[in-house]
Parts: sequence; C-alpha cells; structure tokens
Amino acid sequence: MQLITVKIEKPDDTNFIRGQTLWRHDDGDEGRDLMTRSQTPMPGDELKAEKMPGHWLLARLGKRVLRPGGRQMTVQMIEALNIGASDAVIEFAPGLGETARLALGREPASYTAVERDKDAAAMVQEILSGSAQRCVVGVAEETGLPDASATVVYGEAMLSMQTPQQKSRIVREAHRLLRPGGRYGIHELCLIPDDLADSAKLEIQNDLANAIHHGTRPLTIAEWQGLLVAEGFLVQTNAQAPMHLLEPWRIIQDEGMFGALRFAFNLLCNREARRRVLAMRQVFRKYRDNMAAFVFVGQKKEKVPQ
Ligand SMILES: C[S@@+](CC[C@H](N)C(=O)[O-])C[C@H]1O[C@@H](n2cnc3c(N)ncnc32)[C@H](O)[C@@H]1O
Repeated sequence: MQLITVKIEKPDDTNFIRGQTLWRHDDGDEGRDLMTRSQTPMPGDELKAEKMPGHWLLARLGKRVLRPGGRQMTVQMIEALNIGASDAVIEFAPGLGETARLALGREPASYTAVERDKDAAAMVQEILSGSAQRCVVGVAEETGLPDASATVVYGEAMLSMQTPQQKSRIVREAHRLLRPGGRYGIHELCLIPDDLADSAKLEIQNDLANAIHHGTRPLTIAEWQGLLVAEGFLVQTNAQAPMHLLEPWRIIQDEGMFGALRFAFNLLCNREARRRVLAMRQVFRKYRDNMAAFVFVGQKKEKVPQ
C-alpha cells in the first residue's frame, strides 16, 4: 500500500487534487481560475471552469477515463482489435493517454498518436519511450502520416464531437493510413433507437452542447455503421453499453477507489465545477433511453464503394 500525502491549503472553491498533489487557485493570475503547479500543463489550463469543455473539466477534476462506455468498453475494443507484436498502431486523439497504456501493454511494433491539444500530446509523450513510439500534435482528419503505414487505427470519444464532414474525413483518413485488411476501432456515443425523430436528435444535441460546452453530434447505430461502410470498412464487432460515465459506481469502476475519492473531493471543493458536472449528469440521465456508448471494429476493404 502506498502512503499518499495531500497538502490542503484551503478547501474552498478553487482547490483541486491532481494525482497526489493539491493545486490551488492563484488569484493574481488573470484568466485562470484553476491554477496548477504541475510541470506539464493540463489541457484547458487557460480556461475557467464555467467555460471549459466538459472533457477537460472532468480531467481537471482528476477523471482519467473520458469515453462514454468507460474502461470496460475500451478493453472490449482493444481486445477486438487484437493488437500484437507485429502491429503498427495509430491512435487518434489519445487525450490523457489512458488507452495508450493498454495498447502499449500489448507491445506493438510501433505506436503513433495524433492529438490536437498540445498539452494533452505532451502528457501522452511522457508515457512513450523509444523511437517507435511518438505522439504528434495534429488533427486526425489530416495526419500527414504516410499511406498504408498502420495495421491498426483507433480513436475514442473524438468522432462524436465532429461535424458530419469532419467525421467522414477522419474515417477516410483512417482508411488511407491502414494497410489492406487493417483494423479500425471506434468507441463513441450513439442515439437509440435508429428511427429516433429528427426533432429528438436536435433536442439531445442542443442539451449536450449546453451542458458540455462543446458541440456533440452523436449518430444512431445505423448512421455510424453507414459512415464506416461508406468509407470502405466492413464492420465486424459491435458492442453497446449504457451511457453511465458520471454514475457513481461507474466512476469507481473506471477510476478505482482512490481516483473516485479524489474526483469527489475536487467536486466538493469547487462549486462551479460541481454545478457543471451535475448539469452534465442530468442531461445523461434525462436521455438515458436515447443515448448509449458503443464500440465498432471494422476491417479495411480493398475498395471504397462509390
Ligand atoms: C473526450 S476527449 C477523449 C480523449 C481520449 N480518446 C479518451 O477516450 O480518454 C476528446 C479528445 O479528442 C481530441 N480531438 C478532438 N478532435 C480532434 C481531431 N480532429 N484530431 C485530433 N484530436 C482531436 C481532443 O483534443 C481530446 O483529447
């Protein structure tokens, strides 16, 4: 068992425990309400809690698992991708690098991550070693990586936040990067049932955007499948789970007991962050019958259908 020392300066609205250290707001630093003392800045460091996109707010509160189906669905995706020693892996949008650790645990021949946020990319780079592992700052829709340079591509909780055009561009880029027969895994948010009315889809999108402070445009399972098929993939694995990202038992399952307590403590100490997280959970609960997490693993087909 590890002894953890946490120094609490003032348990007010501005304190956050990150890992084993407590960070406290420095009132003198304009524009930042959550001042950190880490050598590696956290994504969203420059934003106030009320403006921060939901995923970075959760990360600042100590949450490490930021995808809708939690750790369990990630494990399902990694297993279905069957990553092994001969694989060249590309991860889109690794965030804080939690899934990267799982993929690296399978000792692939190479691992390349493409992350838009430079602070997140720096955090991921810290867990990588050797010349066959790297994290580049860039966008998944135009990675600049060579054609057919991967046998496995995956991305989690990153497609749902894109416009329809960007979704297609990212899936097309995965297809370009893969060798024939290569595997592509996605773990995202979906709307259910497939025949959900357009007005209901719009209402969910708007409520999600208001709570998360980031555009979120989940598709139905049939629409996600159509997207992958249109860009040249044969969908082979399809798993679904309820959207329970902010339910207490799922937080314990995903973050472990210490991580869940750290998250709860940070929530208690920060009124604005607490308000935001409860608002997000309220939307997830409101639409519990119309939203779910899912995993698809598809295989690259030789030709993109016209
Ligand atoms: C909700 S977080 C998910 C992070 C991680 N995949 C996970 O599941 O924990 C979304 C991530 O996608 C990244 N991102 C969003 N759009 C991107 C794009 N077009 N290209 C690369 N990264 C992107 C963000 O910077 C952020 O790290």
